[in-house]
Formats: sequence, C-alpha cells, structure tokens
Amino acid sequence: MKRITFKVNGVTHSFAGEPEMPLLWYLRDELHLTGTKYGCGKGLCGACTVQINGEATRSCITTMKSVAGKKIVTIEGLSARGDHPLQKAWQELNVPQCGYCQSGQIMQAAALLKGKPHPTDQEIDEAMGGNICRCGTYERIRQGIKRAAE
Ligand code: FES
Repeated sequence: MKRITFKVNGVTHSFAGEPEMPLLWYLRDELHLTGTKYGCGKGLCGACTVQINGEATRSCITTMKSVAGKKIVTIEGLSARGDHPLQKAWQELNVPQCGYCQSGQIMQAAALLKGKPHPTDQEIDEAMGGNICRCGTYERIRQGIKRAAE
C-alpha cells in the first residue's frame, strides 16, 4: 500500500493504511490528539476543525489520501504553551460552557485571524457560521475573537 506522508503540528508522519479513512480517526486514535472532536461526522458542525495548510478544514470528511504533503495543525499545535491570543481570550472571558465544540471554534477563529487580523462582526459571523455550539456560547465566541484581535 502506498505511503502517505504529511506533517502534524510540525512533526512528519507517514501512513500506509486505508486511504479513505477520515483524518479525524487518525488524529484521535493513532496520534491520540483528542482535542479535535467528533460531532456529526458529516462536515456540518465544525467540532472536528483543524487547519490544513492554514485553512480551517473539517477533519471528519477529509480523507487520509488527501493530506499527502500537507501541513496539519490541531488545537494541540496551535501554540507552544496554550497561549495563542485566542486561547488566552477564551480563558479570560470564560467562553466555553460544556467545551465540546471549542477546539473547533478556536481553530476556525485562528484561521480567520490569520487572514483578517481585525475582522468585522459580519466577517466573524460569516467565518464562524458553520461552527455549531449547542450551549449557545456564540456571543462569547465573538467577544473572544475581538479580544484576541485587539
Ligand atoms: Fe466534522 Fe461535525 S464532526 S463537522
């Protein structure tokens, strides 16, 4: 079977298993990077969001074969000490309630801030609209993004 080589949080990995396997399974079950969550499995909720080559991406519908040569960043690799401006803002503002969706929220927001360091409310809503929070922490998420953008 053909080997697929890629980077996760700066470390090179290679994979020779089922090429159609979702990246989410690999991250959680093989690398034990369990910060990335399984929600819907259909690309609809955003709980599984990671960055691939800087783009916010749903890892539940991303196949292993599609990540060949790519750079993947998970919540564990977003910052060296959990001190990315978004992570600090999330703590300061107590953004999470149950917390389940929040890794995906932060990874989506981090991709937004990379392209737009000072997003408007509309840009935040457009970027974050696909990340569902069953606890309804949307207003705190928006405030957290604004705090991180200051
Ligand atoms: Fe991937 Fe819901 S688990 S979008």
